[in-house]
Amino acid sequence: MKVRTYAESTTHELGRALASLLAPADVLLLSGDLGAGKTALVKGIAEGLGVREPITSPTFNILLVHPGTLPLYHMDLYRLENPEELEDIDYFGTLEADGVSCVEWGDRFSQAAPEEHLAVAISILGDNDRELLIEGAGARGQELAAQWMSAASLVSGLEVRP
Ligand SMILES: Nc1ncnc2c1ncn2[C@@H]1O[C@H](COP(=O)(O)OP(=O)(O)O)[C@@H](O)[C@H]1O
Ligand SMILES: [Mg+2]
Repeated sequence: MKVRTYAESTTHELGRALASLLAPADVLLLSGDLGAGKTALVKGIAEGLGVREPITSPTFNILLVHPGTLPLYHMDLYRLENPEELEDIDYFGTLEADGVSCVEWGDRFSQAAPEEHLAVAISILGDNDRELLIEGAGARGQELAAQWMSAASLVSGLEVRP
């Protein structure tokens, strides 16, 4: 499924629409160039989860935990050089914990993808123009993708295509 957004605020709303569907141990893998809007989408999800702390790129921290209606585990694999380092941050333990994981550069290592996840690949089409390619993996991933897209079709300013 593809979603087109023409403003950062619309991307935030898309994230808020997903937040209300999320359950513990759901995993979102985000990819796309620097400045694509991975963190922008996580900001919207955080708003929807009632996170009060500011959301920043966790690049230098690798993992930031934000309390909300569900804990938000915000990760960024950009600076990891080899997959063994995933163990150092207890990556797989974090994915299975009782919160929601949002992983920027989540496509960096193939072994970083759990069987069930939602993959979001963001392309920059123009200054404020972004296309999100959304794919659900596993039963839960597919269910979430379908629910998210029906919620997104109600958000004004978003174009949703199957
Ligand atoms: N439609 C849009 N959706 C998300 N971000 C957008 C959009 N249009 C412009 N932007 C801008 O793109 C940048 C995205 O930055 P960020 O979310 O930090 O990217 P990333 O985490 O992918 O590196 C921000 O400066 C934001 O204002
Ligand atoms: Mg970022």
